[in-house]
Amino acid sequence: MKELSSGFEKLILVCVRSRDNRECCMARGSVELYDELKLAMAARDPRVRVVQSQCLGQCSDGITVVIQPDNRWFGHVKSSDIEEIVNWASSGMDLELDF
Ligand code: FES
Repeated sequence: MKELSSGFEKLILVCVRSRDNRECCMARGSVELYDELKLAMAARDPRVRVVQSQCLGQCSDGITVVIQPDNRWFGHVKSSDIEEIVNWASSGMDLELDF
């Protein structure tokens, strides 16, 4: 095993799981939400990485999004919530960015 340096300070997990004939985030448009959130987060703060995840165990409340290491969980997430999520993810970090 080799310890790696992530280069990121936070991760945002977006569930993109599909479940046949059962409630799931993909059926609610999570792949599209992931794409939008990834672009918005990269524009705001590249120290936060947005990744797709499998089921986060909150299927009936999806689309599920989690910010780590803050352990902030969001359910019923829609495109209109992206700005707020980006704000949450950016909070608590030194915002002196080198752009
Ligand atoms: S399918 Fe997204 S939380 Fe289970």
